[in-house]
Amino acid sequence: MIRIGIIGTGGMAHAHARSFQRIKGVRLAAACDLDPNRVQDYGKEFGITDLYTDLDAMLKNADMDAVSIVTPDSSHAPISLQAIAAGKHVLCEKPLAVTYPDAKKMVQAAKRKKVINMVNFSYRNSSALMKAADMAAKGMFGEIKHVDAHYLQSWLSSRVWGDWKTSSGWLWRLSSEHGSKGVLGDVGVHILDFASFPVGPMKTIHCRLKTFPKVKGNRIGEYKLDANDSAIMTVEYANGALGTVSTTRYATGHANTVALSLHGTDGAVRINLDRSYTEMDVTRGKDRHTCTWKTITCGRTPDMYKRFVESIRTGVQDQPDFARGAEIQKALDACFVSDAEDRTVRL
Ligand SMILES: NC(=O)c1ccc[n+]([C@@H]2O[C@H](COP(=O)([O-])OP(=O)(O)OC[C@H]3O[C@@H](n4cnc5c(N)ncnc54)[C@H](O)[C@@H]3O)[C@@H](O)[C@H]2O)c1
Repeated sequence: MIRIGIIGTGGMAHAHARSFQRIKGVRLAAACDLDPNRVQDYGKEFGITDLYTDLDAMLKNADMDAVSIVTPDSSHAPISLQAIAAGKHVLCEKPLAVTYPDAKKMVQAAKRKKVINMVNFSYRNSSALMKAADMAAKGMFGEIKHVDAHYLQSWLSSRVWGDWKTSSGWLWRLSSEHGSKGVLGDVGVHILDFASFPVGPMKTIHCRLKTFPKVKGNRIGEYKLDANDSAIMTVEYANGALGTVSTTRYATGHANTVALSLHGTDGAVRINLDRSYTEMDVTRGKDRHTCTWKTITCGRTPDMYKRFVESIRTGVQDQPDFARGAEIQKALDACFVSDAEDRTVRL
């Protein structure tokens, strides 16, 4: 039996609990949240009785092999470091940290303690992405020259996910003081991983960030609304391909669109997760001369929670690990430098 403790019991922690509960041989052993009511409700919902509002107490007393960290972004690094020091395997939400130096500390700590470490780039759950990466690695699209990736949300211009003005779960995402790196840190990390996983490492990045005025004084209660809402990036990959990556919370008409297309000298692939996690369109060989696309069904791939548990069971570290999280963090830091200095940054 693998015993997991959940740290942070807000919105996303529900997906963690449901996913871990579906895995045979896994038990939700404990949960911790600074908010006593929230952790109590969560305990009731998922049948967890060992509940904490203090991380030290949880790490000292709870019977657990691993933790899943689902707190706001700025606490990922300190909580991970504490959990690793206590010898726990760690699945950490994205972004891994809020700076590359912090992310590197996490990588080093996990390595030293020899614990399994993973960052929840959850769109790796798409079997279409895994298949596209495999085909790209085998050269089945030829040399990749052009990459288009976008992650589109609209919760600032619609009520698709409720009213952001009245929910702390949305408001902290708009506030640097609350540890948010804006849309770039929130979902930009996903799309940077989604694009560069099949294409390979990024060599340079140029980024433009924008924070739009939203309410009078740009403040709601304790939340100063200063984090970026939109990010547009141009990327040169180490293999020479050029690409665009964009993300925004103002893509009216899109709830949560994650899409990627890779174009190579012998073929191309298109993935759009709104349509399917398991299907992709491919054109290859002669088909490319007529722009004929065929849909390929890609079966299933284990989700991040299963991969984490399997890594603990076998002792074999799966991907994406903290080192991958740190690589993406480096790109994120570069985006802020690029935007501030209006220049391309080498990674
Ligand atoms: N991988 C994904 O697809 C995905 C999706 C949504 C959110 N997330 C990530 O999950 C994390 C949480 O997001 P959310 O939407 O659940 O936020 P949320 O605001 O709904 O929940 C966060 C919870 O953490 C608690 N908390 C804050 N600081 C804490 C601390 N130091 N110790 C213990 N508890 C603490 C809060 O009280 C709150 O209950 C974020 O990092 C976010 O980026 C990832």
